[in-house]
Amino acid sequence: MNLETGRLILKNPEKKDLDEFYEYMNDFSMAEMHIDTFWPISKERLVVKLKHLINEHKKEDPKIYFFFIKLKSKNKIIGDVLLHSINNISKEAIIAFDCHKKYRNNNYVTEAVEVLINFALKDLGMKKIIGDPFVDNLVSNKVFRKLRFEFIEKKIKWATSIATNKKHDVNFYELIKDKSN
Ligand SMILES: CC(C)(COP(=O)(O)OP(=O)(O)OC[C@H]1O[C@@H](n2cnc3c(N)ncnc32)[C@H](O)[C@@H]1OP(=O)(O)O)[C@@H](O)C(=O)NCCC(=O)NCCS
Repeated sequence: MNLETGRLILKNPEKKDLDEFYEYMNDFSMAEMHIDTFWPISKERLVVKLKHLINEHKKEDPKIYFFFIKLKSKNKIIGDVLLHSINNISKEAIIAFDCHKKYRNNNYVTEAVEVLINFALKDLGMKKIIGDPFVDNLVSNKVFRKLRFEFIEKKIKWATSIATNKKHDVNFYELIKDKSN
């Protein structure tokens, strides 16, 4: 099932998306802000990752919902937005996102995240959405604040980027389902 906004389609991953996936992931500014993206990027690893994401969607009880962000006006994949670590007992999930370097600062990711939050709270019945950007990822922190996530705590040297081997402090944010959402 795909989701949609005015400018974007959030589409389920398919095998044919590999080249566009590789195009935006092949960027050090992306890898250094992830915990689990090797640098230099390997297309073979992305093939395995994509297969995993596709299979996860087919499960009855997915632990990850991953969507490519497709820009309608260019019919082009420009990033992704996902829910991971989905806990169907506590009804919590972590949200994450990426945008192709050339398409940043157009509010695309914020627009995509809003739709995914709606899907998580209304369709999946989640009660809490968590954000966990590195403290030094100023743009990602900005996106969470723009979307009215509440800052909960900062954990010191909590995560390591596999691309750089650097330890990062991590900010934790929460968005709790209430009557307004
Ligand atoms: C984080 C990321 C997905 C944001 O994508 P995006 O499409 O540029 O996001 P948006 O345009 O929706 O919002 C970006 C906001 O950050 C602001 N911003 C840009 N550069 C900034 C900076 N250096 N410091 C603070 N805020 C900044 C923009 O002005 C914008 O806010 P505004 O709408 O109030 O002006 C993108 O930068 C990216 O892919 N980064 C690398 C991977 C990554 O960090 N992923 C997230 C891991 S948690």
